[in-house]
Amino acid sequence: MQREQWNSRTGFILAAVGSAIGLGNIWRFPYMAYENGGGAFFIPYLFAMLTAGIPFMIMEFSLGHKHRGAAPRVFAKLGESLGFKLEWLGWFQVFIAAVIAIYYVAIIGWAISYFVFSITQSWGTDTNSFFFNEYLQLGDNSPTKLGSLQFHIAIPMAIAWGITSLAVFSGVKGGIERASKIMMPLLFIMVLLLIGRIVLLPGALDGLNYLFRPDFSMILDVKVWSAAYGQIFFTLSVGFAIMLAYSSYLPEKSDINNNAFMTVLINCGFSILGGIMIFAVLGYMAAEQAKPITDVVTSGVGLAFVTIPAAINLLPLPYILGPLFFLALVVAGISSHISIIEAVVAAVIDKLAISRKKAALMVCGTGFTVSMAFSSNGGLLLLDLVDYFINNIALLTSCLIELIILTWLFKIADIRDYANQCSEFSVGKWFNLCLRFIGPIMLAIILIKNLINTLRNGYEDYPIADQIFLGWGLIALMLFAAIFISLVSRDPNKKPAR
Ligand code: ALA
Repeated sequence: MQREQWNSRTGFILAAVGSAIGLGNIWRFPYMAYENGGGAFFIPYLFAMLTAGIPFMIMEFSLGHKHRGAAPRVFAKLGESLGFKLEWLGWFQVFIAAVIAIYYVAIIGWAISYFVFSITQSWGTDTNSFFFNEYLQLGDNSPTKLGSLQFHIAIPMAIAWGITSLAVFSGVKGGIERASKIMMPLLFIMVLLLIGRIVLLPGALDGLNYLFRPDFSMILDVKVWSAAYGQIFFTLSVGFAIMLAYSSYLPEKSDINNNAFMTVLINCGFSILGGIMIFAVLGYMAAEQAKPITDVVTSGVGLAFVTIPAAINLLPLPYILGPLFFLALVVAGISSHISIIEAVVAAVIDKLAISRKKAALMVCGTGFTVSMAFSSNGGLLLLDLVDYFINNIALLTSCLIELIILTWLFKIADIRDYANQCSEFSVGKWFNLCLRFIGPIMLAIILIKNLINTLRNGYEDYPIADQIFLGWGLIALMLFAAIFISLVSRDPNKKPAR
């Protein structure tokens, strides 16, 4: 059976941008920038975008397009040409995507709930207590003592799963592309409307000044560079099987370089819009409460679900601006969630040669069931712990191994030639330099630092047993499962069912 294809170039770009723009841009980027030197963060961020983001995207688009497969097939074929077995790396990336998908959907579920609350601001005045006590009902639970399933969280999560499943189930053209064509323009319109109103509020410009005021003393800190590189890989959806799957559906005659540049630049531009939106609100909130802005900013989960609701309480027309903000968060999240699930579904279709519908049912059914753990009382703590280990250890390791194998064992010049042959404009030798030297060196430094820190100090105050079980243990399990699946050969006589 012929591989599915995108209907148009615009459709592909909207889907790739839809994958890249997600919770990472609206919620994670602003506080990352704030915590890591404000305006000075843009220097490592832009450096990471140019030296890792763009070349990595070109590399993944080329490999997906050339080998016409999801991550395991791409790596298996690369391995064959080198005389190594590499399919396991593809499955390791697919498992990273699967784990991210099951907790990412919890945040989308919270955003759906908050969309409803925002209509009447039913979170009240103490938004901190509302989020942690009334909504999450955290109590004294832990990542391994989860408490019970909370239906008011499980139901919005099920809604998010419903939309994702429908898009993935309906296929590349009829589902994912169609959803992206609706969601992306809608998202841009909503965010521009929000910014248009918010920047005119008193104090908003002070907020922006705060975000963009560079603290150059932080620029020599490895932590800041680590944050910038980590953010680039997560936000661009590279290194965890997504862009390989999406580019495997490109028609033969497709541009690689231009598409990659556009995807990266639109995504990073949108992150800056996300930062402007959030910090303009915070500036207004600080002015309204006559407090310094540092007193109103919270990082992490608290930013979107504690600080922003408190700010919405103070906004003019809160019943319009509030729902608009949370709807934007939901749309950005779901379009990314669709791509994360597609990375898994595409790999299952390739391996088992089963129909898309069967694979989608299998993946979404299992994903939904496992994700219910995140709707329990301890769900937030479980999410926090798993997210740390997956993003800071597993994802960076996978990116580093991918880079080393592709650029040192494989001829990176061949990938550049392939991309240039397909493209309207060519990329120069800087591409090889970035991928062979700058990228691996930066990633190796960051990863080693993360490993030493985590082994020495652990992550936050979670019990060591929980960290071994849900952090290191989970990564080890993913690696063993990846090796095991790659050793089970697929029946070459089976043709994909219709
Ligand atoms: N790229 C997606 C995000 O930034 C996963 O949220």
